[in-house]
Amino acid sequence: MKKILIINGPNLNLLGNREKNFYGKTTLNSIKTICEAYCKKNKMECNFFQSNHEGELIEKIHLAANDYAGIIINPAAYTHTSIALLDALRAIEKPKIEVHISNIYSRDDYRRKSITSEAVDGIICGFGEKGYTLAIDAIKNLIYKNSND
Ligand code: DQA
Repeated sequence: MKKILIINGPNLNLLGNREKNFYGKTTLNSIKTICEAYCKKNKMECNFFQSNHEGELIEKIHLAANDYAGIIINPAAYTHTSIALLDALRAIEKPKIEVHISNIYSRDDYRRKSITSEAVDGIICGFGEKGYTLAIDAIKNLIYKNSND
């Protein structure tokens, strides 16, 4: 069974309470449950991870080299600042999708540039928590396009 890693960056643990006008009312724990069920329906498994620390996110990405068939990542604010996360993602030659709950291109100027997106196959943004299941569909397509099983 293909395993995917779903990584969430800083402050996403506050979903459900945080800036509901941008991020909605769904908690990260509910998104985790939705992703696990959706992966199962698609005959895949996921490891759903969140950290507020850049180094922990980077170390988790490193694990994908051996343990996972692909990565879905919402780097949160590190999207706009972190060359270290960009480099970590670039080092992993597996399918990678970036997700944002909000439409980062319709918000503040400083959110309109995604540094990390240079290392991913595609971005899904602006669809709320639904973006995570759209990303699972997208990564499944990429994984099976590159594999014989
Ligand atoms: C976000 C968008 C980022 O700009 C922001 O810093 C976040 C969440 C999103 O999912 O819409 O924390 O990645």
